[in-house]
Amino acid sequence: MPAPLGALTPAAFLHDYWQKRPLLVRGAFPGFGSALDGDELADLACDADVESRIVSRADGRYETRIGPFSSEDFGALGDRDWTLLVQDVDKQVPELVTVLDQFTFLPAWRIDDLMVSWAADGGSVGPHVDQYDVFLLQGSGTRRWQVGTLDASGFVATDEWLLQPGDMLYLPPGLPHWGVAVGPCMTWSIGLRAPSAAELVSDFCERASAPLTDAERYSDPDLTADEGGDGRLSEAALARARALLDATLAATHADLPRWFGELVTAPKAWLHPVPPDTLLDREALAACADTQRLVRDPRTRIAWFPMPDGTLRVCVDGHSEVVPAALEPLVRRLCGPREFPAGTLTRYLDDDGAAALVLRLYNGGQLTEADDD
Ligand code: SIN
Ligand code: CO
Repeated sequence: MPAPLGALTPAAFLHDYWQKRPLLVRGAFPGFGSALDGDELADLACDADVESRIVSRADGRYETRIGPFSSEDFGALGDRDWTLLVQDVDKQVPELVTVLDQFTFLPAWRIDDLMVSWAADGGSVGPHVDQYDVFLLQGSGTRRWQVGTLDASGFVATDEWLLQPGDMLYLPPGLPHWGVAVGPCMTWSIGLRAPSAAELVSDFCERASAPLTDAERYSDPDLTADEGGDGRLSEAALARARALLDATLAATHADLPRWFGELVTAPKAWLHPVPPDTLLDREALAACADTQRLVRDPRTRIAWFPMPDGTLRVCVDGHSEVVPAALEPLVRRLCGPREFPAGTLTRYLDDDGAAALVLRLYNGGQLTEADDD
């Protein structure tokens, strides 16, 4: 299936729009019909393990309440001016993950989640700015989207579109926008993730400091008498501090691909895949892969890169392991389409290393038997 970018190729989209300017794609998903209705979304929002919020407007002010909600909460809402938003719907309703699979022109690790909103007529979260790119796919009904400027005096629209089911609006980060439901409507937001600089620095430093012991510390066997006495921090002391910092960060710098791969594949803490009730051994796995359709769990985040010595580092859900170069076709396939029809993996499993990798993924819950009911 081609990328949902209308007449644009992925390369043209990335060059001209990505992280730069909004793009409206009419009929991005032709004939799109939401595979989820408002009641199903409300059911999800009653689950304590699911992130949800209701934004309602009264007297011109927006008010946000955080879920989980009860059916009474929904009963008390009127028929206007409120929106229910549910995060990570792709992990809750695995059929919906196929929408995210249309975005393979982006690195998989950049895709965060599918958020679905259901709005009553007039429903909106208000004008705001997001830090992440987003693709806003109209699921059902109509929504008016405006983009513009937002400052202390309010939002001023510079562009406006009415989106119908299947239409999609891409917005780069930092662009003020405002979506208002024109009649009841459902919007699917394909949300991207990008670590903040603060997150990168703090995680990197945590990684760098983990192996250090108390014995590794500032030392000054070269201390001279003229560094003491007048309270001044000497150039030599600053140079020692800088050298210690550089030396301790150097090891993590050298291991930057691993650190980054583990960081960007780490799922949200409450969204880890769950190991199966029955763990398999190699023979049982081979039989299972032969006869069952397997799927990669929608919560699983997987990426890989070649190491300088030709081996591969495979990063899965915040952890990583090194596998032989010969496993590259398998690793690429594991990162590819999330469905593995019966027999797909069979050809790889004669190899001990390949069988061990697939077994770890199965027993870790990353690869599961498809639910075919
Ligand atoms: C919505 O679906 O109502 C809001 C999405 C957004 O503007 O971030
Ligand atoms: Co937004």
